[in-house]
Amino acid sequence: MEHPIIRPRRLRRSETLRKMVRETSLSAANLIWPLFVRPGKRVREPIASMPGQFQLSVDELRKEVREARSLGIGAVILFGLPSRKDGRGSEAYDEDGIVQVAVRELKASFPGLIVVTDLCFCEYTDHGHCGIVGRTGRGGGWTLDNDATLELIARTAAVQARAGADVIAPSGMIDGMVRTIRRALDGEGLKDRLILSYAAKFASAFYGPFRDAAESPPRFGDRKTYQMDPANVREALRETALDVREGADIVMVKPALAYLDVICRVREAVKVPVAAYNVSGEYAMVKAAGKNGWADETTLALEVLTSIRRAGADIILTYHAKDMAKILGKG
Ligand code: PBG
Repeated sequence: MEHPIIRPRRLRRSETLRKMVRETSLSAANLIWPLFVRPGKRVREPIASMPGQFQLSVDELRKEVREARSLGIGAVILFGLPSRKDGRGSEAYDEDGIVQVAVRELKASFPGLIVVTDLCFCEYTDHGHCGIVGRTGRGGGWTLDNDATLELIARTAAVQARAGADVIAPSGMIDGMVRTIRRALDGEGLKDRLILSYAAKFASAFYGPFRDAAESPPRFGDRKTYQMDPANVREALRETALDVREGADIVMVKPALAYLDVICRVREAVKVPVAAYNVSGEYAMVKAAGKNGWADETTLALEVLTSIRRAGADIILTYHAKDMAKILGKG
């Protein structure tokens, strides 16, 4: 007797059926919206390479966050554009630095909102590197001074947490940063604050548009001595394991789309929640294709975010957050 055709297509016959058997869900509750905050009033400066995203003053930030909250977004991550840059990035750890002001405002206005603060110095230093730059003593070279940077990381974490940040997110790929922050938070008696570590952050061309948005390109050299080589996945497992051991509550892989295998492997290796950063270049590509009429922007964005979840990310940091929340509902 002839073998019957086996028909997986039966499961795809209607949208109701497809929804019933869908393996991966995406909801506004999984998304963190990155926002850029700068000094001033009524500032809403469009970011050319990231259509739909703005540098915002605190008053405008509040309006955006109100809308995001009403759409079911639970968390935002803040990046600051200081009024002045210097060699040590001192506005990052100034009690009245722009991020601290923004955090206090958001926590007062939206009690249920989770406020995440990016902790890095590249937006704050005049050289654009993610910490203190020192000499190597060899041929006039430079190096990112790991342990001198840790001292500033401790100060900044304490200041951000005192301002009210719920989650501290160090993004500098400095060795020992998580342990240093945990100790600083414990020292402040702020044991309830989380650490979301940019644990496996690759030296990526996908950050191009962000460096425009945050006005933070390095003035010399590159970030390859602290950010990871895109070719490495075992090293990503090592970095994430170290951060978990040092006290990270959530570990992140960044970028997301070209690193889905890394997300998948990390998800299998650690027990803590895994986040992935759908970075500026990934956003810009979707926007550009949409604008040119080469593909449907919304469908692309949904597919990208679903694939990041399917790879194993519990949480996604994405510039699409507000637009996606509008179509996903609060679910
Ligand atoms: C700062 C930082 C960067 C991003 C997040 N935090 C830029 C960089 O490392 O150059 C990139 C985010 C994005 O591209 O959306 N260290």
